[in-house]
Amino acid sequence: MGYAAPPPDLPRCPGPSMQDILSADGESAPAVLREQSFLELGDTELSVERYTSQDFHQREMDKMWPRVWQMACRLEQIPQVGDHCVYDIGDDSLIVTRTSPTEIKAFYNACLHRGTRLRDEGGCVQAFRCPFHGFTWGLDGSLKGVPCRWDFPTIRDDEFRLPEAKVATWNGFVFVNMDLDADPLPDYLGDVARHFSRWPLEERYLAAHVGKIVKANWKVAQEAFMEAFHVPDTHPEIGSSLGDWNAQYDVYPGGHSRLYNAMYVPSPSASRRGVSEQEVADEGTTMLGFDRLSLPEGASARSAVTAQYRHVLERKTGADLSDLTTTEMVDLIQYFVFPNFFPWAGLGGPIVYRFRPNGHDPDSCLMEVMLLYPRPASGESPPPARLRMLGADEPWAEAGELGTLGPIFDQDTANMPRIQAGLKTTRRSGVVLGHYQESRIRYMHHELDRYLNAAT
Ligand code: FES
Ligand SMILES: [Fe+2]
Repeated sequence: MGYAAPPPDLPRCPGPSMQDILSADGESAPAVLREQSFLELGDTELSVERYTSQDFHQREMDKMWPRVWQMACRLEQIPQVGDHCVYDIGDDSLIVTRTSPTEIKAFYNACLHRGTRLRDEGGCVQAFRCPFHGFTWGLDGSLKGVPCRWDFPTIRDDEFRLPEAKVATWNGFVFVNMDLDADPLPDYLGDVARHFSRWPLEERYLAAHVGKIVKANWKVAQEAFMEAFHVPDTHPEIGSSLGDWNAQYDVYPGGHSRLYNAMYVPSPSASRRGVSEQEVADEGTTMLGFDRLSLPEGASARSAVTAQYRHVLERKTGADLSDLTTTEMVDLIQYFVFPNFFPWAGLGGPIVYRFRPNGHDPDSCLMEVMLLYPRPASGESPPPARLRMLGADEPWAEAGELGTLGPIFDQDTANMPRIQAGLKTTRRSGVVLGHYQESRIRYMHHELDRYLNAAT
């Protein structure tokens, strides 16, 4: 059986589904939000060694990372010719640079003389000059200078270009792929590209960029954001006002997927104790940092909080948001692009996550959060935020630019080292996944295996 809406007899939490909530909104939600895409993959456990073993990590490095499209940076981070960023993954490092107003290239970050890393960090240069002896390459990767040229009789300029990886852009992001035979990026993105045609993220700007080394495998870290099953226990202060156990999970060819979760509705996880609309509104306004809304009898928290959120965001950004439906304004519409990139649609969370292994340590990773805000109506975006790297013991809440999200990320990341430690302690050989709510995680591993088991 292929990708299709979940079968009607698939067990699910009682209460309104995401699609029921859309119907109750009484608006015409974009067609892609009315779609469901499920794939039956069974219930086999995922082996613990996938998260803990150096061998498994090395297989990922050898067979998966060099063959996938990876989000390297935002376009607004390299607006001028010579601007560049450095994108590292395992032993590989790429200099992603704007070579002309219309062209971006990615060069392997290693000097062709004796191997020195050419750039440790991004910036703006007119040429790439090695800090060791001064071999120099132009922005287009051609050899520009060899000190004591008379001493290098074998070097031929045309063979001494900086080697390149593939580059493509989508929705304001620059992607790289080290596999020169890789499918074009639009083919790789597939359904995700189709869905985002309504949500042009190139019209947003990078308002915040925060990173942190987390003591957990990169998959442990990102899986913490792939389901809303954990919300009631991990985030009790938002446990009454979002669809949690009734979120919708969709998977798409290529390992990509979506979590679609309603905001400002009584939570299924809290329904046994009964949640009033006022309680939902109170939790929502607290989460957003707004003044309390006093709901008249019979009013809907979802409508009232959405109206306020739209008003505040329009005032803050100067953008006109009037054509966005309730669900696009407030719900969590989080996409995942295999293997490690999470662009959110809508404005319920104007968020992007990216996760990467930390060098060759299977027990730690780099987690980054970006916030993409709508460009002001004037068209003039503020300069892109610079990456703020938090120290190991610095909480996300320290990064004021993340607003009320910071403390929520702290709750998520507090779990991660516990998971990694527990995976080493457990006497079970595998982890068990919820059949539906954790289906995205299973699907991601399914796709990972496709790379790991490929013949070449
Ligand atoms: S190693 Fe780069 S110039 Fe010598
Ligand atoms: Fe969470």
